[in-house]
Amino acid sequence: MIAYQNIIDKIAIDSKNTLNKGVVASYIPELATINLNKFGIHILDAKNNNYSSGDALEGFSIQSISKVLTLALSFGIIGDDLWKRVDVEPSGDPFNHLSLLELENGIPRNPFINAGAIVIADILASHLKNPKEDFLNFIRELTNDPSIRYNEKVALSEKRTGFKNYAAANLLKSYGNLHNDVEIVLDFYFHQCAIEMNCKQLVNAFYIFMNHGTCQRGKNYLNVNQVKRINALMLTCGFYDEAGEFAFEVGLPGKSGVGGGIVALLPNTYCVATWSPGLNKKGNSKLGMAALEELTTRTGHSIF
Ligand code: DON
Repeated sequence: MIAYQNIIDKIAIDSKNTLNKGVVASYIPELATINLNKFGIHILDAKNNNYSSGDALEGFSIQSISKVLTLALSFGIIGDDLWKRVDVEPSGDPFNHLSLLELENGIPRNPFINAGAIVIADILASHLKNPKEDFLNFIRELTNDPSIRYNEKVALSEKRTGFKNYAAANLLKSYGNLHNDVEIVLDFYFHQCAIEMNCKQLVNAFYIFMNHGTCQRGKNYLNVNQVKRINALMLTCGFYDEAGEFAFEVGLPGKSGVGGGIVALLPNTYCVATWSPGLNKKGNSKLGMAALEELTTRTGHSIF
């Protein structure tokens, strides 16, 4: 039996005491106001035990973490046709880079860079009756928590400053890889990123990825091979041009967001979420990465 609680309590104390916490994302003005001193960590194991430390129950903007959930929903709807419109290779570039998109004729490298996630948002805009409502309901169902909401201020803040995402969507449109209007797709995309969740809600949502596609209440959403593919993408592309570093340091599939959250999981064993709003130069949570390195090193539990 691993002493998860002792380990995460120590990690939370160390993180609160660390002086260099990174820098909060300021390119989305609404995120620049977040308190840099927040730190939360939550673990849910395969036997449904919960371990929590620090600010694990305080909500934050999940940002790019939402890309795993939109991928899961769209993969469940259209299956392998999805890979005709988005590739599965790491880009080695920052999350918002556009040069490869033009070189590769409008097929984004993977579903986690912004251009790839915008294609996924387009697929959902085509297949869901009320995309924003239906996606939120999907997350509420996965977490069994109807309190989860969009933060409209964050969505609007990003819409006003999301010039690169407009550029990506227009480029995709020019290559025929965006079927709906740019405005409609980006409105959905900015909202999915502006969902607010806490660490505990995130591990509840990501439980399906450690449990072969079946949620805590026993409902199945994805088959084992679909989960294999999503976890492989998290491992190889979940941290953009820092995916190698995250695999090297932490050794788990995971996904970050510029709100400072990270979710990672060890199939059949546990799912963990961290929140520390300060980011490193690659846009990933500085102390979140350090915390997860400490966790997998102290427990000896990674996929390797
Ligand atoms: O589109 C954007 O730039 C943001 N809404 C999400 C970027 C993000 O979270 C990158 N992850 N670390």
